[in-house]
Amino acid sequence: MKASILTFSQTGNTLKTGKSIANGLRNSGVEVDHVDFLRRKKWNPEDSDLIGIGSPVFENRPAEVVTEFLKDSGLDLKGKKAFVFITSGGSPAKSLWHLAQSVSRTGATVIGGIQFRGACTFPTLFGIYPGRPNDEELKQAEAFGRAMAANMMNGAPLPDHYKVDPDSGGGFYDIIGPCLNHAKKITTPLPKNDSEKCDLCGICVNECPTGSISIKDKTVRFQDTCIVCYRCWNVCPKNSISMKFSPGNGLIERLVYSENMERAFGDVKPGEYVGANLYKDVLKRKIKLKYDRKNPTAEYEYK
Ligand SMILES: Cc1cc2nc3c(=O)[nH]c(=O)nc-3n(C[C@H](O)[C@H](O)[C@H](O)COP(=O)(O)O)c2cc1C
Ligand code: SF4
Ligand code: SF4
Repeated sequence: MKASILTFSQTGNTLKTGKSIANGLRNSGVEVDHVDFLRRKKWNPEDSDLIGIGSPVFENRPAEVVTEFLKDSGLDLKGKKAFVFITSGGSPAKSLWHLAQSVSRTGATVIGGIQFRGACTFPTLFGIYPGRPNDEELKQAEAFGRAMAANMMNGAPLPDHYKVDPDSGGGFYDIIGPCLNHAKKITTPLPKNDSEKCDLCGICVNECPTGSISIKDKTVRFQDTCIVCYRCWNVCPKNSISMKFSPGNGLIERLVYSENMERAFGDVKPGEYVGANLYKDVLKRKIKLKYDRKNPTAEYEYK
């Protein structure tokens, strides 16, 4: 029996959970092919019985680069079973369900899904879920993988909490997220490059999930297909990429995405720990991200 997992991960959180799910499957005797979304051209799920799709949450929805790929790639997964997983650093809203819907449109039957928290490098969400996904969550991911394997192999019933339910997740953020998506280029600034610091190494070009960066005439250029995920900002070894958040951006983010609002709308559970928001320190680059492309993480230290 074979499973094939495709995971998009900007800073490694979703990748970590995908790896743990893959371990759970492998420990149950399933052969697993786990492909990073950036290498999606190499992904071939045709001979797999079970398909997994993982994505972070951006603007209260699964990253659109993933859902667009599912829509446009012409994938035909009819007759296959599938599962979905997401990580979120604020309000996931109904992202798990939306991802399941996108996967269903390929013809696959989604049998389950799971969501986790993920520490975020995005300035306005920075520091809110430190150390997440944690060991406990990675164990849960592994258990999820084992349950998927048992269901595939001998029809073992899945616990109710793995069902992907359209009613779960905050309705408010499910509506406001897509509105902000349209206004994203106003609320969320595009990255800019400082040619003085940049040595034209090309790392950002290779790491951009949407192919929105090119180098022409010794200049780094950003195209408007950019989904403002800030992966380029994370990976640039010269710290030459920056974003200019206006006071308006901060105000919108603080009003709409404050802890109190997210608790009120059910996207942060009553007993759930929420850390400090360190966005001002991130923007001033007082915080040094411990970013390592081979072992990505959203952890940080103060400079
Ligand atoms: C541009 C951007 C927008 C985000 N928007 C949301 C959001 O609306 N809701 C949320 O819960 N998390 C949001 N996040 C946080 C990520 O979903 C979270 O940090 C996730 O774990 C990142 O996963 P990754 O490390 O696999 O990329 C956002 C992150 C970025 C970079
Ligand atoms: S990663 Fe940074 S230094 Fe390298 S080309 Fe991109 S902007 Fe320039
Ligand atoms: S240009 Fe940067 S922010 Fe835009 S999609 Fe590419 S990596 Fe993400």
